[in-house]
Amino acid sequence: MIAPRLTEYSPWEMPLVIAPAPARSSSAQSPIIIEIGPGRGDFLFHLARTDPAAIICGIEIKWRRFEKLRERRERDRLANVALIYGDARVAVPQLACLVDKVYVQFPDPWPKRRHAWHRILDAEFLGSCARRLKTGGEIWFITDDKLYAESTAALFIADPGWQTYFAQPIVTNCPDAFPTHFAQKWRAEGRTIYYQRYKRS
Ligand SMILES: C[S@@+](CC[C@H](N)C(=O)[O-])C[C@H]1O[C@@H](n2cnc3c(N)ncnc32)[C@H](O)[C@@H]1O
Repeated sequence: MIAPRLTEYSPWEMPLVIAPAPARSSSAQSPIIIEIGPGRGDFLFHLARTDPAAIICGIEIKWRRFEKLRERRERDRLANVALIYGDARVAVPQLACLVDKVYVQFPDPWPKRRHAWHRILDAEFLGSCARRLKTGGEIWFITDDKLYAESTAALFIADPGWQTYFAQPIVTNCPDAFPTHFAQKWRAEGRTIYYQRYKRS
């Protein structure tokens, strides 16, 4: 595949490149799980292997990573992985289906104010996720950045359509979470990890 020349586009006009899941027998009941920013894809492929009935879709903004994910999908012969190259803020509103789960794990925090527009979790993006989630669908948000965790929790709390799954919106211990590449990296450095999980009612 040839990478679109991103310098020609503003982020909002960035074209999407879609590598659909190879033809397989799927039913309308197949759960659909989205991972935004899968990076190396350890979690994406773990999900695909442990839940072969589900369609697992990774949305990745970096072309090189997208290509590597595509290569790995072919190498591992996983027929239930779909991949989208592009900005998730553009891709999610265009999804032609309702989804069961959305995972956002260790998105880049972009702490500087002038770079804040890169930050993916904002009110607009949460609105897009809410519109694409099935009733009872859920979103996971995991970060090592305390301020990002807190500002995102405030957005979820402000919308009564989201219900926290945990006893409180943010927890720092979550044995159910998969140890992604960045989870392992930050844990090895002794950083605290902030987990959030919400259900859409
Ligand atoms: C810090 S890495 C985390 C990778 C993986 N989730 C993990 O936990 O190991 C962030 C990933 O999100 C991707 N990313 C950043 N902004 C994105 C966006 N707007 N849409 C889709 N992917 C994005 C990056 O290219 C990168 O692969």
